[in-house]
Amino acid sequence: MSLKNSTRDTFAAFMCDDAALDILRAVAVDMGWASEKCHRGGLRNAIQSLSITASPNILMVDLSESGDPLNDINALAEVCEPGTVVIAVGQVNDVRLYRDLIASGIQDYLLKPLNPGQVRDALVQAQAIFTAPKSHDPSAVRKHMSMAVVGTRGGVGASTLATSLSWLFSTDHKLPTALLDLDVHFGTGALTLDLEPGRGLTDAIDNPSRIDGLFIERAMIRANDNLAILSAEAPINSPLMTDGSAFVQLEEEFRHAFEMTVIDMPRNMLINFPHLLADVNVVVLATELSLAGARDAIRLLSWLKSNAAHARPIIVANKIQPGANEISKADFEASIERKINFMVPYDIKGASNAAKLGQTFVAANRASKAGGVLRDIAHAVIGSVDEDGGTTADAGTDARKASLLGKFDLKKMLAKPKAKANA
Ligand SMILES: Nc1ncnc2c1ncn2[C@@H]1O[C@H](COP(=O)(O)OP(=O)(O)OP(=O)(O)O)[C@@H](O)[C@H]1O
Ligand SMILES: [Mg+2]
Repeated sequence: MSLKNSTRDTFAAFMCDDAALDILRAVAVDMGWASEKCHRGGLRNAIQSLSITASPNILMVDLSESGDPLNDINALAEVCEPGTVVIAVGQVNDVRLYRDLIASGIQDYLLKPLNPGQVRDALVQAQAIFTAPKSHDPSAVRKHMSMAVVGTRGGVGASTLATSLSWLFSTDHKLPTALLDLDVHFGTGALTLDLEPGRGLTDAIDNPSRIDGLFIERAMIRANDNLAILSAEAPINSPLMTDGSAFVQLEEEFRHAFEMTVIDMPRNMLINFPHLLADVNVVVLATELSLAGARDAIRLLSWLKSNAAHARPIIVANKIQPGANEISKADFEASIERKINFMVPYDIKGASNAAKLGQTFVAANRASKAGGVLRDIAHAVIGSVDEDGGTTADAGTDARKASLLGKFDLKKMLAKPKAKANA
C-alpha cells in the first residue's frame, strides 16, 4: 500500500446544484461520513481536486455541466488512483451514455433528480465493491508464502526437505512454487530432479539489475507445471562474488510470479546475507539427533529470534533410526528447550529409490512413512501462514527464558572430554 493510499478518504462527492448537494449531505451523514466531503462543483472540480490530493475510496461526480462526459471521465481516470469506485450523476437519460460510462469503469450512473433511497443503495453497493477482494484485478497482490530450509549440520537432509516440500506445494497443494537453491557451488536442487541447472542463477548473481519477470521466466528450469527451480553448479574454482542483492531481487520477483517460495539456505549464506530471511514466513530447521546438532539448533534458533523474529521455526529431526541416534529425542528437546515438530525416519531404501528415479524423495516414496511425515510438514508450513500473510505466534520460543543449557546438561557433556584430558 502506498503512502498516498493510506491517507485516502472513504468518500468524496462533487455536485453541481444545491438540491443534489442537500440530499447527498444527508445520506453521507447517515453513512457516517463527514458532510464536508460533499463539495460544490462538477467533474472538472473533481479532476482538479484529485490531481493534488489522494483519491477517496468512493467518489460521486456530477456530469451535468460536462460537455463531453466520456472524455472527462477518462481525464478523471488519469488522476484517480486504481481501486476508487466511481458513481456518476447526470440529467441525460440515455442508455448509450449509460453503457459507455459503465464500460469506461464507472460503477453506476444515477439520474437526477436524486432521491435519498437510490443514493444510499448506490453508496452501500459501492462500499461492498470497494471492500471485496479484487480477484479480477491482476495487479492486486496475490497471497505469497515464503519459507527457508536450513540445516543445523551438513548432510542432515535440508536439501531433501527443500526439494520434497517444493514438490508437494506444487502438486498436492497446486501452488505455483519457486525453489531457490542458494547452495551455489554444490546445490542439488536440479540434480535431485534429474535436470540441468543451466546458467540462470549464475547470470542472476552476475547481473542483478537484469532480474525481472521476463528473466525469471527464461532463467528458471521447469520441474512440473507448477514448479520452477533456480539452481547452479558454479565452478569450484570461482568464489561467490556477490553482495546478496541478486538474491533479494529474486525473492522480490518470485513474490509476483509465484505463490510459494522455498529457499534452500546453506548456513554460510544465512551468516553472510541475514536479510534474505527478512520476509520469510517459516524456517524449517533440519537437524540430526546429535550433540553438534543440538548445539547448532540452539544457536540457529537464537539467531532467528533476533534476526527473523517474524518467521516461525519448524524443527524437523531427520534420518531418525530408533536406538541409533547419538542423543535421544527427549535429551535433544530438553537441550533446545522446545519440542521437535516432526521426526522423519531414516529410509535408505527410499533415498536410493529417489536417486534411481531422478525424483524428489517424497515423489518417489509416496506410500512410505517418511513420505507421510513430509506431507504433514507441508501442511504445517501452509497452515502457519494466516490470512494476513503473517505468521501465527510461535509458542515454543516465547517460553524460553531459562538458561539455554537448562535441563539436559549440554555444558557438562561438552566439558567432559576436557575433564578427561585434565585427569
Ligand atoms: N530420511 C532419510 N533417510 C535416508 N537418507 C536420507 C534421508 N534424508 C536425506 N537423506 C540422504 O542424505 C543425503 C544428504 O541429504 P541432503 O543433501 O538433503 O542434505 P543437506 O543437509 O542438504 O546437505 P548439505 O549440507 O550438503 O547441503 C542425501 O544422499 C539424501 O538422499
Ligand atoms: Mg543441501
